[in-house]
Amino acid sequence: MCGIVGYIGKRHALPIILDGLKRLEYRGYDSSGVAILTDDGLIVRRKKGKIKDLIEVVGHETINGTTGLGHTRWATHGKPSDENAHPHRAGDVVVIHNGIIENYTELRAMLKDRGHHFKSETDTEIIAHLIEDHIKSGEPFEQAVLASVNQLRGSFALGVLYAKNPDKLIAVREASPLVLGFGNSENIFASDMPAILPYTNKMLFMNDGTMAVITAEDVKLFDFTGSPLPVNPKQFDISPAMAEKGGYKHFMQKEIFEQPQAITDTMRDRLLFDKKEIDLKEAGIDGKIMHALKRINFVACGTSYHAGLTGKYIIEEMTGIPVDVDVASEFRYKTPLVGNETLTIAISQSGETADTLAALRLAKKHGSHVLSICNVIDSTIARESDHVLYTHAGPEISVASTKAFTAQLITIYLLAIHIGRGLGRISKQQAAVYIDTLVTIPSLLDTLLKQEDLLVSIAKEYARYSDFLYLGRGISYPVALEGALKLKEISYVHAEGYPAGEIKHGPIALVNKDMPVVFIAVKGKVYEKIKNNMEEVKARDGKIISFTNTGNNEIQNLSDSFFLLPEIDELFTPILSIVPLQLLAYHIAVINGTDVDQPKNLAKSVTVE
Ligand code: F6R
Repeated sequence: MCGIVGYIGKRHALPIILDGLKRLEYRGYDSSGVAILTDDGLIVRRKKGKIKDLIEVVGHETINGTTGLGHTRWATHGKPSDENAHPHRAGDVVVIHNGIIENYTELRAMLKDRGHHFKSETDTEIIAHLIEDHIKSGEPFEQAVLASVNQLRGSFALGVLYAKNPDKLIAVREASPLVLGFGNSENIFASDMPAILPYTNKMLFMNDGTMAVITAEDVKLFDFTGSPLPVNPKQFDISPAMAEKGGYKHFMQKEIFEQPQAITDTMRDRLLFDKKEIDLKEAGIDGKIMHALKRINFVACGTSYHAGLTGKYIIEEMTGIPVDVDVASEFRYKTPLVGNETLTIAISQSGETADTLAALRLAKKHGSHVLSICNVIDSTIARESDHVLYTHAGPEISVASTKAFTAQLITIYLLAIHIGRGLGRISKQQAAVYIDTLVTIPSLLDTLLKQEDLLVSIAKEYARYSDFLYLGRGISYPVALEGALKLKEISYVHAEGYPAGEIKHGPIALVNKDMPVVFIAVKGKVYEKIKNNMEEVKARDGKIISFTNTGNNEIQNLSDSFFLLPEIDELFTPILSIVPLQLLAYHIAVINGTDVDQPKNLAKSVTVE
């Protein structure tokens, strides 16, 4: 939800900031802007549209300066327009903001009474005026920013520049992510690592309630009372290339193809193949906790929620522990039935999703053990959990989540085996069988990805349809939900996931020759049952696309199109069956000409409620 970048140093700031904005464009892309401090004063340029539209504007000018701010917006207050784009300015103060100011109406009224005039409909503009107001009352820059943030309610990551104090920038974090990058006689801050990686690997994730005063040579941290805090950056082992497209047309395609590697990296050092054991001490679920566990509950949003739904099948089967799965935005307002006999598992690629964070905090407050499964190292959810299992999927840039999902599933398999073994519910022999299965997955995925062309031809055949039904049973039901989500979010085609056994209770009324029905029909407990559901759809002229295994001619005969999946124990099928569904959605979107990596109205990291 909005990307912010600030640079101060010895190089021209504009290209660095524009490059950073492009790398953060996945966070918001309805308008953007920059503010650069030049010898001729402060220059602010803002433009509705994508970063390329802003580049067209600034490309015709010479804007030289070594200090500046940039912003790419995902609108919350005020529609996308040049006026509502950031940076916002009040006199010599310029502000960029990611988040929502909840008390902006009252602050705006108060500032209007004090003679301030507003040019935009945004909540952000009041921050610039508030800081200017404090400066006019005689407070130095840092004090003015501190006093202002103490008047704000809501979530905010801010970048502030004051033209009369040209040697410093101020960055503030309260409930919206912000990373500081430490260079050599230059410093940079941004909403996420990809904007910083080309310049330095030495970084610090700011905590809530902190303010950084940044010069070219130095960074100082303070809490909101103004007390100094220690500054301890870490070296991160990530290269800028990991956040680039590397020859693929879109990040989504690249990330789909990275899945065998992401899964291998996530299993590394945790799956001890020779000993046929799982080493997951880092999860912090020791024997005492395990034996006391009465329930596990997943909290997550979107694709991560679908990983949780799949996790329910995996954990219940492998450990016998009952599992609940809640959408985090629902859980956070429920009476949480959790305590010290519960393990709450927050799943989040970004580690910054506001609802998931709130759900985690609530569970923790009620005494639950909290474990998170996160992709972004040191993210807020990771830091606030008792323990964290990182998915080592590498940076996921495409808005539609793909490799993070399969890496989350792998982590859940490892955790389930770990707990199942700890409780004695999985024998050593059974664990060995599971481990042998897990290690085959990357190469099975490689084989599957080589059949992309087949999915391109299926996509060509069905791209013109406007409604799809995705059906699965048992552990393939969450896969149906995730397949449908992928299609709708990137191609804007209506798609619904449903448990196949439920169609006769409603959705079958929709089935006709204009309704492609995607079946995830893998071999297992409900194979025969899903065949019956296919017959029901066929009898009503529905077009059937099936994702099934070899050797069942009946399913192939019932299908208008089919894709054959490698065979694997049913419990592990989701990690294979989701991948062709990701590719199908991807190619339908490409054929329909949508902006695959940056679908309309969406943002990668949802840091507002
Ligand atoms: C869908 C997608 C979203 C995210 C959701 C949660 O492709 O990307 O549904 O899964 O916003 O995000 P994280 O996992 O970062 O908490």
